Amino acid sequence: MNTKLLTAVLLIGSLFAGGSPAFAAEPDALNQEVQQHDISHQDIPGQNVQLSPDLLALLRAEMVEITAGMKSITYFLAAGDWRAIEETGEKIRHSYIMEMKLTPVQASELEEKLPERFKQLDTEFHQRAGKLSAAAAAHDAELVVFQYSRLLESCTVCHAAYARSRFPGFGSDSPKEHSH
Ligand code: HEC
Repeated sequence: MNTKLLTAVLLIGSLFAGGSPAFAAEPDALNQEVQQHDISHQDIPGQNVQLSPDLLALLRAEMVEITAGMKSITYFLAAGDWRAIEETGEKIRHSYIMEMKLTPVQASELEEKLPERFKQLDTEFHQRAGKLSAAAAAHDAELVVFQYSRLLESCTVCHAAYARSRFPGFGSDSPKEHSH
């Protein structure tokens, strides 16, 4: 990732963390105008990521690894095995698809095809994994539980935005309220 992009991602990350409204809420005319400059123009909620089969396979493999890590953390947490949580959190943090050893062609494909918001969610996800590790290193069970839930929340946010065909449960027609 080049420095300029990283800066942009970090900037968006901080805006997002501050609770700024979704870019998609901008009026059409403004969207048209900013398309040349605004790196978020590819962000269409509900859109799936369009990647070549080899990259999609890498992404899926990463997801399967992450899922295994999350499951094992459940047990390590219940067992108070801080060291194991720390290591697993670190593994998840480093399984960053943008940091993988990709061919130059794959790297530029990712750069072009992944929407900025996806990259931002991915960055945020891996940062949260780092915070989970730090909480485990501090032997702080309550904080580990909190960071774990934040990490899990990242899965749902990204899947709802970019993996709806894989996980139709996040479709907009799902009932949001229960009647009692
Ligand atoms: C930044 C985005 C993002 C985050 C964060 C994310 N995922 Fe995913 N995940 C995806 C996308 C996109 C797909 C769908 C790929 C496809 O089209 O098949 C996916 C697919 C998956 C799959 C299916 C893999 C397969 O073989 O089909 C699993 C399992 C999964 N994710 C687990 C997780 C878990 C668990 C977390 C959180 C701990 C998580 N993901 C966080 C984007 C994300």
